[in-house]
Amino acid sequence: MRTRIEPFRIKAVEPLPITTRPQREAALGDAGWNLFRVPARLVTIDLLTDSGMVAMSARQWGALLQADESYAGAESFYRFEESVRRVTGMSEVIPAHQGRAAERLLFEALVERGDLVPGNTHFDTTRANLERLGARAVDLPVPPALVPSLEHPFKGNVDLQRLEDALATGAPSRRPPLVLVTITSNSAGGQPVSLENLRETRRLCDRYGVPLFLDAARFAENAWLVRERETALGGWSPAVIARAFFDLADGCLVSAKKDGLVNIGGFIALRDEALAQRIRADMVVSEGFPTYGGLAGRDLDAIAVGLHEALEPAYLEHRIGQVRALASQLDAAGVPIVRPAGGHAVYLDSRAFAPHFEALELPGQAIACALFLHAGVRATEVGQLMRGHPDAAGREHPVPLDLVRLAIPRRVYTRSHLEYVAEAVIDVFGAPERLVPLEIVEQPAALRHFTARLRPRLPPDGRGLADRGERRRGLVDEPVN
Ligand code: F0G
Repeated sequence: MRTRIEPFRIKAVEPLPITTRPQREAALGDAGWNLFRVPARLVTIDLLTDSGMVAMSARQWGALLQADESYAGAESFYRFEESVRRVTGMSEVIPAHQGRAAERLLFEALVERGDLVPGNTHFDTTRANLERLGARAVDLPVPPALVPSLEHPFKGNVDLQRLEDALATGAPSRRPPLVLVTITSNSAGGQPVSLENLRETRRLCDRYGVPLFLDAARFAENAWLVRERETALGGWSPAVIARAFFDLADGCLVSAKKDGLVNIGGFIALRDEALAQRIRADMVVSEGFPTYGGLAGRDLDAIAVGLHEALEPAYLEHRIGQVRALASQLDAAGVPIVRPAGGHAVYLDSRAFAPHFEALELPGQAIACALFLHAGVRATEVGQLMRGHPDAAGREHPVPLDLVRLAIPRRVYTRSHLEYVAEAVIDVFGAPERLVPLEIVEQPAALRHFTARLRPRLPPDGRGLADRGERRRGLVDEPVN
């Protein structure tokens, strides 16, 4: 059969919120044109994140009921520990309430003011957790990662030459406390890291005596993409490939809200017992006792099952296929997307989508807002609003890439839901005059995209939006030679 089907059937359903355009306009105005501030009951298809928005399996719900909620040494912890050990091969397992808590605990134990922490591309909370300790998060992606339209199988890879330069600078006593490689690279578009690249990264880490850690939130999706793209590994199972990645690392940070297939949870896994003991001693003060780490016993049991379900080939084939199908529909309609499609999301290239916008008019946010107004689809801007910030003089400079992320929650939406999304994006792409340039009215000092308030900005040249739309049509339709 050619028809691809969801490898599950549905046992519990939730009604989908259906809204009117006036309702959505009012909601967006109330939210200060910030989709993080829009109540979820007004969102028809929620692609804000793939994190925590997962439908758990019957097996996971069953495990929840059998959980042990003891404060110390609960059976749930031992099942969780065993499951993490089987997937990662790492002996020390420390639960945390989510990925960013794991980041904070590990960095507080390892990182000092002035340290440099290189990686492919650090996720925002990772960067924020390093910066709050006075360290510098250094992104060293391979150059193709910065060119959305360029096809490249491993845009998540680390630039090995620049990594070597970063590791070689400074006295041995001032070497980075760790190298952190994120699989898949969320900030680069959900792109995979090859096993070959991680092996070379390991070799450099060994040469300079620096530990290698993985931010492995999407370890299973990375394994599947590697299986498809790294020819030498084509016959390996996702579990074996994932294990080959973990085998190269000294430890990992995991937000279980992604490939743990749970709504909340995370962990650190390590080989260094002394480091693990330091973290355990510190975590009691704020995160919780080391056998529950801010989670309920039932959360630990759900993760124990979810980590293995995420590595099942039928699940991964459907999951990655779903993301790829959305990307192909958009691509066929000429919508500019990051190529190739990543593991968990499709990213629109805002500047190619809206070339009539100035970078500081927040084209990505304008596209995300237009999608919401048109169809109740909620996406995230990953561009000027998320990454930009005013300099000391209050002036802002364009960030290198401006994207809109359509993140696909796991096992939540069906093919027809995603066809609806494709239609919505194609409609918005076809009506550039409806995109509204935006400006920031209120913003906090850090992670501003979560809470900032914005408003429509009238073009300083006095031209109406329709004129600007025509300008884009002109730009797009102009033959390129
Ligand atoms: N690392 C990566 C690569 C992530 O994508 C995230 C979260 C985290 C760490 C932090 O984990 O949310 O459990 O504290 N990413 C979500 C996203 C929020 O939407 O991409 P967390």
